[in-house]
Amino acid sequence: MKQLRTQVAIVGAGPAGLLLSHLLHRQGVESVVLERRTREYVERRVRAGLLEHTTVELLRQCGLADRLDREGMRHGGFELRVAGHRNRLDIAALTGHSTYVYGQQELVKDMIRAREEADGQLRFSVADVALDLAEDEGPSTVRCSMDGRPTEITCDFVAGCDGFHGISRQCLPPALLTAHERRYPSAWLGILAATPPTSGELVYAVHERGFALASMRTPEISRLYLQVGPGESLSDWPDERIWKELHARLAVDGETSLTEGRVLERSLVALRSYVAEPMQHGPLFLAGDAAHIVPPTAAKGLNLAVEDVHVLNEAFRSWYATGDRAALDGYSATRLPAVWEAEEFSDWMADLLHRPPDDDPYAARLQQARLDAVVNSHTVARQLAERYVGLSRQTSGREGGAWSWNQA
Ligand code: APR
Ligand code: PHB
Repeated sequence: MKQLRTQVAIVGAGPAGLLLSHLLHRQGVESVVLERRTREYVERRVRAGLLEHTTVELLRQCGLADRLDREGMRHGGFELRVAGHRNRLDIAALTGHSTYVYGQQELVKDMIRAREEADGQLRFSVADVALDLAEDEGPSTVRCSMDGRPTEITCDFVAGCDGFHGISRQCLPPALLTAHERRYPSAWLGILAATPPTSGELVYAVHERGFALASMRTPEISRLYLQVGPGESLSDWPDERIWKELHARLAVDGETSLTEGRVLERSLVALRSYVAEPMQHGPLFLAGDAAHIVPPTAAKGLNLAVEDVHVLNEAFRSWYATGDRAALDGYSATRLPAVWEAEEFSDWMADLLHRPPDDDPYAARLQQARLDAVVNSHTVARQLAERYVGLSRQTSGREGGAWSWNQA
């Protein structure tokens, strides 16, 4: 049996786990990251690619944004296309901030390289991770199979950054965990295609055939999504059908500027919201998708993961520097208001953009009323812009906003 000792054992090398190990390293706290997939797999996994300005700021502050600043695309607005009519939301003018388009797997590559350069303990292809969590202040043990050998890692804390299907969340005592979940009657079919973006900015298209999103990764590569039914599979969608549907939903006056290209990757994701409460127990702390997921409409998943890890890292810093556990104990309570703000906004965006089920004409009328409000009201448009760039989350749970009698 191989034995290792570390301060924080991190399960999962997605953006949450990698960023946490990077931040801990910068303040002299040791960690080991345990990832069940290979490095190649993790670096190629295509996910959303929209970063809020605060996410980018944080990445800059910790030295992870050099390539992002060179290759990422800064966007000051997006287009909301409703039944072929174009409306531009000027986010920069409304909020003073921009968003950045940079593929999540590019960020993952940058983070892995940074950990490598710092001789970080990053272990891929690790199997059978199991947590033996201390009930008291004593050390915990993570068991796994590393390089084919049974291994035991003794640690002070465990960070569960192993995504929605990981094992960490299952280690919270069932009596303590409340899982809040909502499933949506839609899924997203996403493709990466070798074709230039159809427009300089993102296009969110609401159409009677269903929602479509035209995003991008580079000036040569587009990322395109279609709302599809929940029961559909990739085999229902040959390339020809995907392009036909994209043309129809993205058309303006019957025309699209979309050029077809080779499909490099395709995926199908069911839309779901989920929040685990609390996000911690004893020495275990959940961050990112392990604790919560949002429908992809507003691309908040990665941004929430980065924020979780930022708060968790500060709490570890405080514990190791002063022995004060208050910030660690308050981690879940600190994060949940912001998590729920993002859940609510993502849910709202999903309802705003997706074609409702055929048997719900009331929902279709509500959607039209919401779209009218967004397009016609400066106040509603500004609120959408603030929430889209993440500004509203920076204050959620901390300020009473505009209301008086709320100062207690
Ligand atoms: N043991 C070790 N690693 C595991 C295990 C396990 N039992 N289970 C899962 N993992 C790994 C996965 O292979 C994955 O690499 O944990 C990692 C979790 O990474 P992500 O799913 O990317 O989650 P997170 O880091 O929280 O990032 C959130 O990812 O899903 C998107 O929209 C989401 O963009 C957001 C971001
Ligand atoms: C993406 O580029 O993957 C993307 C962008 C914006 C979204 C969702 C996904 O709202």
